[in-house]
Amino acid sequence: MNSKHALLYLFTIFLTLPCACSSTEINGSTPKYARQLCTEALQPTQEKIEEATSKQQWQQLPPLFQQLQRSAKDMWKNCVPKNSLNNIHSFRAQAKVFFQICQQALQTANQQKWDKIPPLIKKIKQRCSLCHDEFKFP
Ligand code: HEC
Repeated sequence: MNSKHALLYLFTIFLTLPCACSSTEINGSTPKYARQLCTEALQPTQEKIEEATSKQQWQQLPPLFQQLQRSAKDMWKNCVPKNSLNNIHSFRAQAKVFFQICQQALQTANQQKWDKIPPLIKKIKQRCSLCHDEFKFP
């Protein structure tokens, strides 16, 4: 093979290696699927947050945002989108931003700045949709 082909060959290995590794192990353990975390943790917590907010039961919010923030961290650190493993870096980036917004919401709730909560919930829901749009869930 000539040097151009050799370079291309090396480049391909370079590109596929990290994907192959992260598809089997993340932080030394088998990854969970995003869908499971979403249906079992994110969705129910999100619903409770919206209910408490609409009833203005503000004191319920800090522990709920604590839960949401923990699940978001789990999503970022431990989850993979089924069938989209070649997109894992983009997924991680999305999950990280999602986590950061959840953390901001938790801090805001802990500081009892209730008027700032509804816009943050809107932002959180936008991040749910953005990730679903990219990873094929309407
Ligand atoms: C970083 C990416 C990401 C974020 C952020 C995210 N999700 Fe998901 N979610 C997924 C993926 C991936 C799936 C599975 C998609 C598929 O299988 O087509 C999923 C699936 C779901 C499902 C299951 C749908 C079904 O029909 O089985 C629900 C419900 C859900 N998400 C709710 C939420 C909610 C609510 C939020 C925000 C509070 C959220 N998700 C944030 C990636 C994400």
